[in-house]
Amino acid sequence: MSSHASDIIIFGARGDLAQRKLLPALYQLDRAGLLHPQSRIIGVSRDGNRDSFISQSLENLARYVPEKEQVTQEIETFSARLDHQCISFTDAKGYVPLAELLLQKHHDRVFYYATAASLFGPISQNLHASGCLNSNCRVVLEKPLGHNHESSAAINDEVGKYFTEAQIYRIDHYLGKETVQNLIALRFANPLFGSQWNCDHISHIEITVAEKVGIEGRWGYFDEAGQMRDMVQNHLLQLLTLTAMEPPLDLSADAIRNEKVRVLQALAPVKAVGPDKHVIRGRYTEGVVDGKSVPGYMNEEGANPNSSTETFVAIKAEIRNWRWAGVPFYLRTGKRMKQKLSQITVHFKPHAYYIFNENQRSVARNRLTIRLQPEEGISLKILNKDQDLSQAMNLRAGSLRLDFANDFGRNRIPDAYERLLLEVVRGNQYLFVRRDEIEHAWHWCDQLIEQWKQDDSAPQGYSAGSWGPKGADLLIMKDGNCWQEDL
Ligand code: BG6
Repeated sequence: MSSHASDIIIFGARGDLAQRKLLPALYQLDRAGLLHPQSRIIGVSRDGNRDSFISQSLENLARYVPEKEQVTQEIETFSARLDHQCISFTDAKGYVPLAELLLQKHHDRVFYYATAASLFGPISQNLHASGCLNSNCRVVLEKPLGHNHESSAAINDEVGKYFTEAQIYRIDHYLGKETVQNLIALRFANPLFGSQWNCDHISHIEITVAEKVGIEGRWGYFDEAGQMRDMVQNHLLQLLTLTAMEPPLDLSADAIRNEKVRVLQALAPVKAVGPDKHVIRGRYTEGVVDGKSVPGYMNEEGANPNSSTETFVAIKAEIRNWRWAGVPFYLRTGKRMKQKLSQITVHFKPHAYYIFNENQRSVARNRLTIRLQPEEGISLKILNKDQDLSQAMNLRAGSLRLDFANDFGRNRIPDAYERLLLEVVRGNQYLFVRRDEIEHAWHWCDQLIEQWKQDDSAPQGYSAGSWGPKGADLLIMKDGNCWQEDL
């Protein structure tokens, strides 16, 4: 439990993110005894009052928290923490009652902006002007933080007038996933991998984040963003940096973030158009997902027939440094794909000299797969002798597997937001994105998006329920590799 009581003030508290993710996560922290008994949760929204906020939140807890975790006594304790302020976010005067409420207690203050990023500046300014800020404040910024490097820098500048970098927690919810954090343990606690983690031993790395969902009624937002801004700029680059970074000096937030920034700085610009391009854009057409017919992107509700937005991206990225010279990092992410699957697959090089059956040469490689979701776990493919009496020494691949839920006897893996909210309350920034990190990530994505703007070819179609467009397979096959979906 945190040693200080906190006031957690959520802007946009009646919106989808707060109701579906933040309040259920805070409820779970409360159940686990990780919130200080005096901590308060204050929802701020443009309409409603305390009663309507509490009843909406309890209804949604019943919907989003698994039934066996809904304990009447615990729900009552949690709802006693809830309070509400109705504020029009851009109206400075509206913040006065909030300031009065906060000044009643000497609590740490966590302001969570679950609103459009265009409001981050005005909310910060109004909090400051109304006296809501003190030195024990932290602010949490939800993604998307801008649309490109320039807009992201402008938002950071605005918020930076009222909060120092040490007070700003930029969310990328992938960093809260247990398996993502485990990457640091896997790489740096296991000498076995530490010594092999470089271009001498690794031939290539794949990072796949495939989703079955489409754009879930968010056509307007999504069409502005596209899969590149929605997923690559943040989640995929975070996975890439954690996979590729040098060992940090220690586990402090800045030591880890310094190394992540170095990887972003070493990312080579990618050619995104032309016959030798290293980026494939795709867009789903109608198809079948889980046995149900679903419309194509251009037939979703609210679609604009002139859209050229991608719902799938595959990239062959290159990191220019000593460790990774010549090792391609293949990134792939899309909506409406065959399966929900997020994993990192590390392919090791074969032995320099080969003595087994020549026909089996292509299988004679080790492969490490780190699965983030579903069924979080790790598997290492190793070669064995086939168990038979034949004269030849035939090889057979088998896997050593670690299944987090079963092997660690955990009946529930905490949601990413539980971990992230807990770290904000504790004042630990290591799972949050530093300003230079986000800006380097934008810079790399911007150069690629800029090339698309000069190119009028439409994204390649792929049927909903497939693994993406043919071009994505060709991209990796040109190098003699192929995408892996198994563990
Ligand atoms: C969000 C994106 O950041 O991540 C969504 O905006 C996407 O479009 C979601 O669906 C995926 O998160 P997860 O945790 O379900 O993999």
